[in-house]
Amino acid sequence: MEKSVGRSGRRDEKPLEIRELPYRATPCLHSPLTQLYGKNYSMETPPKAISEAEELRVAIESHNRLYYQLDAPEVTDAEYDRLMRRLEKLEAEYPGLVTPDSPTQRVGAAPIEEFGTITHTIPMLSLKNVRNREEAVEFDAQIKRFLKLAPDADIEYAVEPKMDGLAVELIYVDGKFTKGSTRGDGITGEDITANLRTVRSIPLTLAKSDDVVLPRLLEVRGEVFIPLDRFNELNNERELAGEEPFANPRNAAAGSLRQKDPAVTAKRPLDIFCYGLGATEGITFRGQTHTYTIGYLKKLGLKTNPETKQVRNIIEALNVCTRLEEERESFGYEIDGAVVKVDTISLQEDLGEIARSPRWAVAYKFKPKEEATLLEAITLSVGRTGAITPVAELAPVEIGGVTVRHASLHNFDEIKRLDIRIGDTVVVQRAGDVIPKIIRVEKEKRPKETQKFALPTECPVCKGEVTREKAILYCSSTLTCPAQVTGSIAHFVSKRAMNIDGIGEKQIAQLLESDIIKDISDLYSLKEGILAGLDRWGELSAKNAVKAVEGSKAPELARLIYALGIRGVGETGARLIAEEFRGLEAFMALQHGSKWEEKDEERPEVQYVIKILAALSDIHGIGEEIANSVVDFFSEAHNRSVIERLLGLGVDPKVPKEAEGSLAGKVYLFTGTLTGISRDRAREMVERAGGRTVTSMSKTVDVLVAGAKAGGKLAKAEKLGIRVIDEEQFIIEMGEMNEK
Ligand code: IVH
Repeated sequence: MEKSVGRSGRRDEKPLEIRELPYRATPCLHSPLTQLYGKNYSMETPPKAISEAEELRVAIESHNRLYYQLDAPEVTDAEYDRLMRRLEKLEAEYPGLVTPDSPTQRVGAAPIEEFGTITHTIPMLSLKNVRNREEAVEFDAQIKRFLKLAPDADIEYAVEPKMDGLAVELIYVDGKFTKGSTRGDGITGEDITANLRTVRSIPLTLAKSDDVVLPRLLEVRGEVFIPLDRFNELNNERELAGEEPFANPRNAAAGSLRQKDPAVTAKRPLDIFCYGLGATEGITFRGQTHTYTIGYLKKLGLKTNPETKQVRNIIEALNVCTRLEEERESFGYEIDGAVVKVDTISLQEDLGEIARSPRWAVAYKFKPKEEATLLEAITLSVGRTGAITPVAELAPVEIGGVTVRHASLHNFDEIKRLDIRIGDTVVVQRAGDVIPKIIRVEKEKRPKETQKFALPTECPVCKGEVTREKAILYCSSTLTCPAQVTGSIAHFVSKRAMNIDGIGEKQIAQLLESDIIKDISDLYSLKEGILAGLDRWGELSAKNAVKAVEGSKAPELARLIYALGIRGVGETGARLIAEEFRGLEAFMALQHGSKWEEKDEERPEVQYVIKILAALSDIHGIGEEIANSVVDFFSEAHNRSVIERLLGLGVDPKVPKEAEGSLAGKVYLFTGTLTGISRDRAREMVERAGGRTVTSMSKTVDVLVAGAKAGGKLAKAEKLGIRVIDEEQFIIEMGEMNEK
């Protein structure tokens, strides 16, 4: 019995031979389309300029390919830039030379109002899923039944990572990129040509070589994505600019491709892997394999996934799937499964499709990062700002190896939007280290007598009045609600604020209950003797607590501002405010009568603060709301008196050095364990010297300080050529700087 169904020829020995193609297309030089795009030079353009521009384009495209596709650049960035500038200059001199596919034209298009639509010549199908070995083996068995093959016949497959990005189609006519679209509903997608043109790894012109035939028409399908390190870099940049970071690389990629202004897309680190074909003209792959077509795409300069593997049967395919799942975190981009495709094209054709999915391919889904579970209750927690946050209490469920019991519901609008009800089966998603999140409700599983979640009408802790600001409910008893008072003092002492060790939330609640403290200023008059006499305190803990309070008396101004817990003012905002105002005086001048009135806003001291905060909000996106929140905070007589008491008790904030410190503009990242100093302290040292610190690895980082057991970030830094120093060297350098 014939056991092997598949390609002719032997798998392991045969190199890719494009010459073997059974059909050779008309060479593209004679095509009318090429003449239209490539040879419409005006008569005044000197032949020398024409040939030089052509040479430059060929060189630039080739360097692009080496850099973006093969990861093997042959020239320096400076040399590449020089070629680009020369071409730009030539094109500026002789506008007739400009072609739409010139490498200078990637960001040429103007912003648009609305995307047009493109109907795919061949529908873009979606894949059925299998979730385990059994289902994969059944997929293989079905194929054999359909093809009337013996149950023990071997079907050859190609296995490749299933990229978690956005599916697109690229249309090349005579080797020129002419149109590109999203998958849309599979039949029609959006015309995102101008945006795709900006993706550097998408060639604008396909590579010509002796052993490859350029088809007249080539529709290529692939997945656009953002590599993880570039994603981190993008989010770091957004963080530093005070912008909201993207939730995940997929969203970032999708959002970037749907920008109305290609200049914005051009700044996003988009990449592509091509994995298949749509319609073609002038070439056929009948008698070939999928693996062969991927090799062909690669020859044309299109980027394909190097992880693509060819295997003999479903068992080997499953082994590749398992390996891909194990190595999932090491690829540098997100994958959510593997795609198993029948390798032989003629068999793919025989198998056809059913219900918008091919019979010849399947997605082997990895262990999901989302799972359905029962929502048992919604509890309400009151934070230090008075914000009342709903928390989902879940029937414990394992997601990606971690047991999840609670999920964030974000705010009450989210509950309304998703119509989440107690008793519902909800889908919970866990991504990386992020707090699990409910992403939808399985409404069909909803029991009969559920009720819409009713918004709280009073504070769940102090029964105080509730006010609403946008989607957030607040308890209005700022000064008396125990949850808020405890929360705000706990925030004040926390590590990144005043860093007072030895006094935590429990101790704060106890001190409040026993009337030893009423607000943050009372911390500075704590007495060892009194503390030592309290339940669960001893002499040592009392002594340490008082010492920690003493030790916090000379904080950086930014830390103190952050510690005050002004609504909306995080660490970055506090730092900007501290750098700009260099003291609290301007804020303390915001006095007013017993009631804040509109006319207060006309007073010069109020206008001064608002003006500077507004300027900050323009530069760094602090936002008008935060500016107002700061003014409101300091306008409150109680807050000012607490601050006056703090200052009176010896708290003396240190004003940061001017930003032109020796590290101005430098970005530091710490990894591994520091032994001599704490990470927070190290961060502070950098910031004091005018530098900035970030938490994830990317090209924006100038120096990586690697402590003991540094792992992934260190490897990445080395790969990116980022300067790496150890803790000792860091201390030496910081010391040297102080001496300067
Ligand atoms: S093949 C008929 N290969 O998965 C074949 N798809 O549900 C259909 N995807 O929309 C696509 N990586 O966005 C294929 N290596 C890969 C893929 C892949 C990701 C996505 C693609 C498609 C969806 C299919």
